[in-house]
Amino acid sequence: MNVLGIETSCDETGVALYSTEHGLLADALHSQVDLHAVYGGVVPEIASRDHVRRLLPLVKQVLSHAGVERPDAIAYTAGPGLVGALMVGGGMAAGLGLAWDCPVVPVHHMEGHLLAPMLEDDPPAFPFLALLVSGGHSMLISVHALGEYELLGSTLDDAVGEAFDKTAKLLGLGYPGGPALAALAEHGNDAAFDFPRPMLNRPGHDFSFSGLKTAVMIEVRKAAERGDLDSCRADIAASFQRAAVDTLVEKALRAARHAGLERIVVAGGVGANRLLRKEIADRFPGEVYYPRMAWCTDNGAMIAVAGAMRLADARPIGEIRAQARWPLDSLAAPTTSD
Ligand code: KG4
Ligand code: ZN
Repeated sequence: MNVLGIETSCDETGVALYSTEHGLLADALHSQVDLHAVYGGVVPEIASRDHVRRLLPLVKQVLSHAGVERPDAIAYTAGPGLVGALMVGGGMAAGLGLAWDCPVVPVHHMEGHLLAPMLEDDPPAFPFLALLVSGGHSMLISVHALGEYELLGSTLDDAVGEAFDKTAKLLGLGYPGGPALAALAEHGNDAAFDFPRPMLNRPGHDFSFSGLKTAVMIEVRKAAERGDLDSCRADIAASFQRAAVDTLVEKALRAARHAGLERIVVAGGVGANRLLRKEIADRFPGEVYYPRMAWCTDNGAMIAVAGAMRLADARPIGEIRAQARWPLDSLAAPTTSD
């Protein structure tokens, strides 16, 4: 069975075709980074309009690449995300579902991230601990099975991707900040500044990144007053990255130990961070799984594979779901009932 995946929750238009027999057949992505960069962040209205322009050509491109005339099912991101942007994907999925008379499955964006490693040749078996780290979420989840998610910890304030983005902005780096900050950090000394490792001295599995962000802000201000910000930007970036990664890794290891889990999945945009990938693999005694870099950040392939695993959740033709907020742990195992 071939499932078309559509992702339009934020600033990437992602489309992919996934076969339940042969794996990923084709995928395509259009990034809106250039459109939003001048504003220093995502402008929702611009995002929606660009999805409208890009989506159908990408669907055609993916189908023709795969040599498939029409898929057997369609999966689209129904939330969480920017509602206007989500409605573009949902509207397209509903229209195509009607035209092709095929099932249409609404997919939770973070479940897509969580299941992205299932696209790889060596997918993780359940149960596992998921460290889900993106621009909007930082979560530690005990994944018992598909749709059985126990939230062990989440962020009390900024998501870690947001902390990367805001720190990058403080350092005068463009949007999106995470990859730019990670690149700058390669040239810096990560022991130059002793930034806090938030929440490590507290019980529980929650994160908080606002204290770390404030500590960086104070150092940036001091350096600017001294007139040597340029010479220590890379050191600040490296020290921030080290503090953030140490916190994520330590918290993930503790949660895995506590829940008795022997596998960890790292997914979401920040999962593309090389230091995080290396540290968690070096320090965790069990198995670590992460999707390849391109499937950490938003993409259509993860939505297609999640939809393929949730075909039982197909909705009546014409229904369009778009939810800005949608807690991951409110999901259930796939069902055929309403
Ligand atoms: O999953 P994603 O593409 O979109 C959301 O669902 O939010 O994640 C985007 C986030 C942004 O905050 C971006 O700065 C961050 O992931 N990111 C990174 C890296 N690549 C993307 N953060 C740190 N290091 C990276 N290499
Ligand atoms: Zn995402």
